[in-house]
Amino acid sequence: MTVEVHGGTLVNRELKGNDREEALNHAKSLQTLEISKWTISDLELIGIGGFSPLNGFMCKADYERVVEEMRLKDGTIWSIPITLPVTEEQANQYQVGEEIALNGEDGITYGTLLIEEKYSYDETREAENVYGTKDEAHPGVNKVYQKGNVYLGGPIMLLNRPDHGEFEDFYLDPSETRQLFSDLGWKTIVGFQTRNPVHRAHEHIQKTALEAVDGLLLNPLVGETKSDDIPADVRMESYQTILKNYYPEDRVRLVIYPAAMRYAGPREAILHATVRKNYGCTHFIVGRDHAGVGDYYGTYDAQDLIASVEDELGIGIFKFEHAFYCDVCENMASAKTCPHGKEHHIHLSGTKVRELLRNGERPPKEFSRPEVADVLIKGMKQI
Ligand code: ADX
Repeated sequence: MTVEVHGGTLVNRELKGNDREEALNHAKSLQTLEISKWTISDLELIGIGGFSPLNGFMCKADYERVVEEMRLKDGTIWSIPITLPVTEEQANQYQVGEEIALNGEDGITYGTLLIEEKYSYDETREAENVYGTKDEAHPGVNKVYQKGNVYLGGPIMLLNRPDHGEFEDFYLDPSETRQLFSDLGWKTIVGFQTRNPVHRAHEHIQKTALEAVDGLLLNPLVGETKSDDIPADVRMESYQTILKNYYPEDRVRLVIYPAAMRYAGPREAILHATVRKNYGCTHFIVGRDHAGVGDYYGTYDAQDLIASVEDELGIGIFKFEHAFYCDVCENMASAKTCPHGKEHHIHLSGTKVRELLRNGERPPKEFSRPEVADVLIKGMKQI
């Protein structure tokens, strides 16, 4: 079974070879716009088809309907606006119909944008509808408030993929993961999103899902995250360690997801599933408080929202209850499978885990594999 691409066709907005050389030469004659790392990651995901069916930054009709109804203007499910923000002053420099070069702060031209529209938007409404809160202490909302208040919409071309440095070996684009699954003979694949090290609860839900499908795509997000999340390089080392020690090699692949983290909880769970569908996954895991932060979302809000669009989304959702180790059952469990009281469940907050690791102490082995803890302890020392 090959999973359909969202919207029907895998988008490819990347130029290669001579076409790319010519476009890069041509870009030298264009007005430029300096774009942030966050925007570069969006540009990359549009270019390689991760965000199919988007072929550029959203114009107003798509943006409005996404914010209001979680749909593109043609009705396709889409949960998060993918936009290119600029200040009014910047917007005034460019004309509608003009092509501009999108440069990083490193001077590299990552792509071009054909400006189809410039439009203003209501940032409070975007915050409330997409993030469910206006609170500027929310890291995703904070980003919405910080950015310029005009969006440039239009199709893009990707001319340079960002350098993923030491993660390059773990980089595959959606056409390559699709090919990989086919080469491996995997017909059913579960995708797993994470921005954390893989602890026992993650391992438990991944392996429970893996019992029902052919393969697992461990697909950690390595783009921008908030400063107190564990850095991607430390996490990548921890993933390789746990895979080597505890997972069957022929059933799992580790591939990076080069996106920025929005912390939009329920709506981001839908985006995460949509992108994994484009990467060729037939299933996707949504556990407790998926893509959440602080207390902004209820434990199962993401599961409830995604359930409401699951049929249309075209990827199966494995929903897992909060998992923990129970010292009476002597295994990983959840409220669905364990009859014992909370006092028997090993639960550690993220803050507590970080404190232990910073002090050079391993969390209990029921919470984290010792090999993973050691990688994290070493990594925390270097921060
Ligand atoms: S996320 O921001 O990427 O969602 P995290 O890396 O912690 O954060 O979670 C990855 C996935 O595992 C999400 O689907 C999340 O809901 C799930 N998850 C994390 N911890 C648990 C747990 N204890 N029980 C069940 N699911 C969990």
